[in-house]
Parts: sequence; structure tokens; C-alpha cells
Amino acid sequence: MIEIRPASAVEFLAIFERLKTIPMQWADIDPARSLFHAAFDRDSIIGFSRFEPDEHGALLGSLYVEPAYRKAGLGQAIVEYIEELTCQRGLMQLFVFSTEAGGFFQRLGFVETPVEVTVQAIPHSPQVEWYVQHPHYLAEEVTYVKHV
Ligand SMILES: CC(C)(COP(=O)(O)OP(=O)(O)OC[C@H]1O[C@@H](n2cnc3c(N)ncnc32)[C@H](O)[C@@H]1OP(=O)(O)O)[C@@H](O)C(=O)NCCC(=O)NCCS
Repeated sequence: MIEIRPASAVEFLAIFERLKTIPMQWADIDPARSLFHAAFDRDSIIGFSRFEPDEHGALLGSLYVEPAYRKAGLGQAIVEYIEELTCQRGLMQLFVFSTEAGGFFQRLGFVETPVEVTVQAIPHSPQVEWYVQHPHYLAEEVTYVKHV
């Protein structure tokens, strides 16, 4: 049985180490404010994502499903879990940066939105703060939003 729940401090460290071995960003993570959630198959972490709620919207980032578990609906389940967290905070907009998986997010109801809009909507998200400090990377990004 697969369970999705918040990652403990120890589980966060395991996710952080995993991120360093795959081509995904980790320098933009703030351990205190990037709230990691993970999917578990028994004790194994098989997928994860971060959630960064801001005043007027939230960010979903670092979405990853282990290759052996892909194409079975887990990515979608993690996104829906983060959407629920967004609603629970009384927020209505969920943003994501994605240059590689835009088609996946569009299939789940996200629409492309200008990067500037995302930066203005969730300026205190650690990922946005990092991008603002690294405009060279920001210029290459694509963002999506979903009204949840
Ligand atoms: C993107 C990712 C999270 C998808 O996980 P997954 O568990 O395979 O996704 P799901 O099984 O829930 O797929 C849901 C639907 O999206 C589709 N889909 C999956 N990846 C897709 C992609 N890159 N582009 C378009 N559609 C995609 C699936 O075919 C499925 O559609 P279906 O129900 O009609 O078959 C996974 O491939 C991954 O970890 N990739 C590497 C990291 C990454 O790119 N993360 C996103 C950046 S933040």
C-alpha cells in the first residue's frame, strides 16, 4: 500500500541526498521553509515533492517519482495531495516551474503563465527567491499555474 505524507527530518535528508544524484535542482531548497512530502512503499521513499506556501499562492517543486514506479498514477497522486494542502491553507493558486514536464502538468489542469506573474504571486517562496538571485536561470524557466 502506497502512502503519501509529510517527510520527517531524517526522511528529508534522504530526499536531499537523492536529489543530488539526479538532474534536479537542490540549491534552491530551504530546509526550514521547503516542506517536503513523500510517497512510501512500505519504508521506501518512491516519490516526493516540496510545498512552499506563500501569502497569495503556493509552489509545488522538486516533484520526482522513482523510475520503477512511473506511469502508474503516482505523480498525479502527489500533485493532487499538494493541491489539497494548498486548499487547506486557504490558498487558491498553485504554481510550478518546469522546463521538462510541462505536458504532464498541463494534463493535470495547469496552464502556462508568464514567469514574471509567478515571481510576483509567490515572492517569498524559497525557489522564487533563489531564481530572483539567479536571473540567468530564471530566464530559461517556464511556469504553470492551477486554480485549485
Ligand atoms: C513527471 C513525473 C513526476 C510523472 O510521474 P508519473 O508517476 O509517471 O506520472 P503519472 O503516472 O501520474 O502520469 C499521469 C499522466 O501524465 C502523463 N505524463 C507523465 N509524464 C508526462 C510528461 N513528461 N509529459 C506529458 N505527459 C506525461 C502520463 O502518461 C499520465 O497520463 P495517462 O493517465 O493518460 O496515462 C515523473 O516522470 C518524474 O519523476 N520525472 C522526472 C522528474 C520531473 O521531470 N519532475 C517534474 C519537474 S518539477
